[in-house]
Amino acid sequence: MENLTSNQVAALKKSLRQLDTEKLAGEFYETLFTRFPQVKPMFPTDMKELGIKLMSVFELVIYSFEEKSHNQFSLQDTLIKPMQELGKQHEAKGVVPEHYTIANNLLLEVLVKQNKATFSAEVETSWKLALEHLTVAMLSRNDDKALLPATEHTLRDTFHSIMKKVLRK
Ligand code: HEM
Repeated sequence: MENLTSNQVAALKKSLRQLDTEKLAGEFYETLFTRFPQVKPMFPTDMKELGIKLMSVFELVIYSFEEKSHNQFSLQDTLIKPMQELGKQHEAKGVVPEHYTIANNLLLEVLVKQNKATFSAEVETSWKLALEHLTVAMLSRNDDKALLPATEHTLRDTFHSIMKKVLRK
């Protein structure tokens, strides 16, 4: 999977700040349920909180690319484990890998539609790459020890406290 460049990370941050996240999450779920009604029963009736949580994850992820070398950015190792846990929660709800493809494509579609004036090709590519990194992390297996730094537990605890704040759990 391709890493992001510093320009792409900057484009993502700028794009996220310009978004009306409530409107984005609203149209995203509405379209999802219209086109793929089979996933609706997995979701709670009150969707407002989930929309906020979803967008909080993007915010967290977008701010969590680290420079590896030669201006190439990838998701911090410390985020992989919490993302795997979020992925496992999804698996338990009945979410399968194909759902991620559907959701990612739909999210991009709604992003483009709602942000026509600011959505350059570079912004679009940056979102695509960020979503790809996020999906790979959520679908990666826990026994992929190579992904985890030795300080896994401390970092994981730290992340959970951040998640609690950001996701207001
Ligand atoms: C980029 C991918 C995704 C991200 C970042 C994401 C993020 C989240 C977050 C943060 C939560 C709340 C977890 C909590 O309350 O602790 C959640 C819940 C949920 N997500 Fe996702 N999600 C993603 C993809 C998907 C996909 C593809 C589906 C299926 C179509 C899905 C279905 C659900 C469901 C059913 C819940 C549980 C709602 C509930 O019962 O409260 N998610 N997701």
